[in-house]
Amino acid sequence: MFDIDAIRRQFPALQVPAAVYLDSAATAQKPKVVLDAIQSAYQQGHANVHRGNHQLTANATAAFEAARKTVQHFINATFSQEIIWTRGATEALNLIAQSYARPRLQPGDIILVGEMEHHANIVPWQMVAEQTGATIQKIPMSRDCQLDMAAFDALLTDKVKIVAVAHITNVTGTRQPIETLIQKAHEVGAIVVVDGAQGIVHENVDVQALDADFYVFSGHKLFAPTGIGVLYGKKALLDAMPPWHGGGKMVEKVSFSGTTFTGLPGKFEAGTPNISGAVALSTAIQWLSELDRDGAEAHILTLKDKAIAALSSLDDLRFIGLQTHSGVFSFVIDGIHYQDIAMLLDQQNIAVRAGNHCAHPLCDALNIAGTIRVSIALYNTEEDIDKFIAALTKACDLL
Ligand SMILES: Cc1ncc(COP(=O)(O)O)c(C=O)c1O
Repeated sequence: MFDIDAIRRQFPALQVPAAVYLDSAATAQKPKVVLDAIQSAYQQGHANVHRGNHQLTANATAAFEAARKTVQHFINATFSQEIIWTRGATEALNLIAQSYARPRLQPGDIILVGEMEHHANIVPWQMVAEQTGATIQKIPMSRDCQLDMAAFDALLTDKVKIVAVAHITNVTGTRQPIETLIQKAHEVGAIVVVDGAQGIVHENVDVQALDADFYVFSGHKLFAPTGIGVLYGKKALLDAMPPWHGGGKMVEKVSFSGTTFTGLPGKFEAGTPNISGAVALSTAIQWLSELDRDGAEAHILTLKDKAIAALSSLDDLRFIGLQTHSGVFSFVIDGIHYQDIAMLLDQQNIAVRAGNHCAHPLCDALNIAGTIRVSIALYNTEEDIDKFIAALTKACDLL
């Protein structure tokens, strides 16, 4: 059974009674077990990994590699070598662009990118398009922030080599039909990069069932620390990719006449990695896996429905996109700037996100400068929603 009181007690940052945190899509708060895991990684047996020959390094390496296996099982990857540690989703997408796409793309090739993507899933493709002469085409979105699948079908030719889309969109929380996108892209020989930064938080992801070629996410949205993230890639694709960053531990032999590289996953992990981050991400995943995740999602959706029902009666408030998936929704209030609302909410200890949410093309498509985004996590309560509604009503009355 999902017990909200028991959950909430596990988050030290949420013990400030007056504060309401509704910005978990930007970054989630951390349960105490994760904070303890970070501390213990440094306090009990800190050492570098895959280096040295003392017991401390052997222990640290074992914990680091066990964390990789935890992620492997969490997303049902076939091999643990398919899990590459990165700093986050952004770095993983850049790695794919530079190591998978750059050596392969040629003038005339096409990268299809969703119109509602986060900048992290647009800019790396623009950079590699510039480097290779490939072209980016956007998959347009409908007014309700869903990919226009008819347009996708029309754009999908054998010139398309890569399709890059989010699993769940960060501005509106809309889930995209990634299963269909993957299947159709594969029919023309394109690979699909799924940005799972938001999706991993709200769904049990099975990369084999999805048949995703690449799936990326950040630890910090999944109750783990910042600075750790995951690139999943199919082994055959990763094996065929050259290293991206060069440095220690990704090499077999270095000499001034040439260098040979180690295999997966090490060839993509140059330098000392975020050891405590990987271990703490594994702790966060174990913590999450022991929860009633369906109950948690049901709790989130109940809170979201409550918020949406209450907001619907506010004058001039317009929701952006469909509010059917995940704990995220966005709105604007005609005639009032989103910054003003966010400031007045902040003065009442309500943390929401206001702005373009690193999604300029989405805002341009809807002809808006930005939105107020509310993101509800499993630790939010009915009281949080009541306080938010009261604070927003007060802000609107003032403005
Ligand atoms: C959908 C999506 N993709 C990518 C990112 C980038 O994640 P990070 O900044 O952790 O690399 C975010 C972060 O908000 C996101 O929501």
